[in-house]
Amino acid sequence: MKILVTGGTGYIGSHTTIELLNQGHEVIIVDNFYNSHPEVLLRIEELSGKVPKFYKEDVINRQALEKIFSENEIDAVIHFAGYKAVGESVEKPIEYYYNNLTSTLTLCEVMKKFNVKNLIFSSSATVYGLNNISPLKENLPLSTTNPYGTTKLMIEQILTDLYKSDNTWSIALLRYFNPIGAHESGRIGENPNGIPNNLMPYITQVAVGKREVLSVYGNDYETIDGTGVRDYIHVVDLAKGHIKALERHIEINKIEAYNLGGGKGYSVLQLVEAFEKVNGVKIPYKIVGRREGDVAVCYSDAEKALKELNWKAEKTIDDMCKDSWNWQKNNPKGYEK
Ligand code: UD1
Repeated sequence: MKILVTGGTGYIGSHTTIELLNQGHEVIIVDNFYNSHPEVLLRIEELSGKVPKFYKEDVINRQALEKIFSENEIDAVIHFAGYKAVGESVEKPIEYYYNNLTSTLTLCEVMKKFNVKNLIFSSSATVYGLNNISPLKENLPLSTTNPYGTTKLMIEQILTDLYKSDNTWSIALLRYFNPIGAHESGRIGENPNGIPNNLMPYITQVAVGKREVLSVYGNDYETIDGTGVRDYIHVVDLAKGHIKALERHIEINKIEAYNLGGGKGYSVLQLVEAFEKVNGVKIPYKIVGRREGDVAVCYSDAEKALKELNWKAEKTIDDMCKDSWNWQKNNPKGYEK
């Protein structure tokens, strides 16, 4: 199939592009490098032996999108592009709502115009909000605590209404838990701008000497050791989940949400310990106060994706720690030369 991947040079987008190419799909990437780097394209080529078609454009640009759709017979779209930093979204809500919503609306309009009605959307476990008890199932009531999360929830709603209006669409809402890890080659991986917000990139930057000490946000939660528990998932497993969703949804006309998670929770200190052990490096840390908006425990019920997509996470927490470190130590400056 010919797949348009928006945000295809980002962290999850690049790993998914490799899997698509490995499965024999043709990939067209549209990305503005807002949160990524041109070097990713060369690495994708190096790892897959194939050259995806690339457009340096913003998904908000309708004219550019129409040109892409008219130049390529696209079968389906995987939509990753969007702003994704929780803290920043609180500071800049208008930018987040404007960017994430307008780009998705534009994309849907152009898809409709070109009669392309298969869409895989990057949602997030953040839509389960603060009040649900893990393991989280797809049919729970949804809510959010910050503008970033609200854009994900609003887009889920928009796509649900779109489907209701025209059930020839097929839409998969993929709710990611906590993606970490990297391609096992160590050539592509997560490359956050500035100070990392998320745990694993912070750990790897401490390990590589870029940051001094990890701040652990609270050790007074009701969890195994008092630190927050999350469902970490290897980014390559996550990428494979997209292919499964695509293959399933090309055959049905439905909208469905699926959790993509491992179905198991690890605490912050368990992750730190696994990282130290598997990589033989020390991660100095200090306990600080809780981070606002954090839940104690968040992990998936991963049964629906197994049953309906025939997908489950295969890689272990040790694989995730090993691959995250392999990427960081081989690319201490990310994609910068
Ligand atoms: C965060 C976002 C979530 C988003 C996801 C994307 C928040 C509140 N949530 O999820 O909306 O979809 O990233 O990847 O930002 N931790 C530390 N020290 C750190 C960083 C994190 O102790 O420097 C802890 C956190 O308190 C949490 C765990 O590590 O218990 C994981 O945090 P993080 O990687 O930021 O992911 P989430 O908060 O689960």
